[in-house]
Amino acid sequence: VIKPHDFFQYKNGELFAENVACSEIAKEVGTPVYIYSSSAFLKPLRALQVAVPGGSFCFAVKSNSNLAVLSLLNRAGAGADIVSGGELYRCKLAGFPGERIVFSGVGKTADEMKAALTYGENGIHSFNVESEPELERLSDVASSLGKVATVALRYNPDVDPETHPYISTGLREDKFGLSLEPLLAAAKRAEELPGINLKGISIHIGSQILKISPKREAFEKVRSLVIQLNKTLKEPLEFVDLGGGVGIQYLEETPMSLEEYGKLVHESFSDLELDLFFEPGRFISGNAGIFLTEIQYRKSTPDKDFLVVDGAMNDLIRPALYESYHHVVPVTESHQKADLKPTDVVGPVCESGDFFAQMRALSTDLKQGDLVALLSAGAYGAVMSSQYNSRPRAPEVLVEGDRFTVVRRRETLEDLVEAELKNEIGGHA
Ligand code: LLP
Repeated sequence: VIKPHDFFQYKNGELFAENVACSEIAKEVGTPVYIYSSSAFLKPLRALQVAVPGGSFCFAVKSNSNLAVLSLLNRAGAGADIVSGGELYRCKLAGFPGERIVFSGVGKTADEMKAALTYGENGIHSFNVESEPELERLSDVASSLGKVATVALRYNPDVDPETHPYISTGLREDKFGLSLEPLLAAAKRAEELPGINLKGISIHIGSQILKISPKREAFEKVRSLVIQLNKTLKEPLEFVDLGGGVGIQYLEETPMSLEEYGKLVHESFSDLELDLFFEPGRFISGNAGIFLTEIQYRKSTPDKDFLVVDGAMNDLIRPALYESYHHVVPVTESHQKADLKPTDVVGPVCESGDFFAQMRALSTDLKQGDLVALLSAGAYGAVMSSQYNSRPRAPEVLVEGDRFTVVRRRETLEDLVEAELKNEIGGHA
């Protein structure tokens, strides 16, 4: 199991990212700041490549779309799972070849389809199509360009992934995919449409899935669907895209093991002569990043203390949105154990939901100017940040061994207003 601390450990009493002291990064770049470890992205990718030999792993760009991270993963042989024209643009800049890109999402616009069909020399590998109207539109757009789109129909297998309701996507009532009957109808329609080449089935039943059983149930359903479709389709299906969702450790969870996962994939599909695609996001990026923030104030109350830090919900919204757990780790190790008191770690934003941790046992030694790190912030951290409260977004730093690079600079006050200036009503400058 990859642990939140694996690439962010204490050395001589100081928190390090690989071989760089976090305090050194704070000194040069300021706080708050996201810090990533490059090896920490590569290790889980390699582990997946070993667990499922021959599988194509398309990194879910939505989990961490920093160009340096994408480029790192591209060079390591990963593909990309995208959900927007913006993510496609990032893939282009990071150099992903089209044959390693899959396009997911319920609401693709005609412009996004066009961009994907004309990506590189031959367009992207495939579109995961989620409804019949989407299929019709895709066929029209492709035909108008003189192209044929490779398609996987996204199946909604009605399986409970046993995860947070906001990140459950494969239940009948969810907006994602097609359930069995509509999918069979769409497959039939796909064969009639001139701009569509139906070649696969895709699923994604949810995120942060810890147990193997929902995966097993979903894979069994995909397997029977493929067998059923192959009996009626003119050409047999060529691939399945099994989505992302493999969970990680934030606290003390025991996620499914990759051996188990690989074995399940093998048992479910090895006899069907299919190429296997996957869309892992969090598994690759989750424990590859931390969020470093500086304590501004300690506020004591009889029941608990508040540590007010310079990072906030606009930087890392997961605790506010999902009540997610992230370890809070003092950068100076000696602050870890002494005189613990129940503590809320909160940001300066004007909402009670602006917290990173609640009633956490933290040392009363922690004081103004000290640094703390929130672990497991590599997935759905920086990508979900906003400028709420007119706070410039935090920078991102990538560590490789004993070097670090600012891979996204801190936003400035000018960045906050740039798109609003020079308009007729209020803009000056
Ligand atoms: N493929 C599709 C079609 C998806 O919708 C997602 C995530 C993934 C792959 C990647 O899933 P992963 O391997 O990362 O679990 N913001 C939430 C997570 C939202 C996940 C949305 N879809 C969070 O912070 O927990």
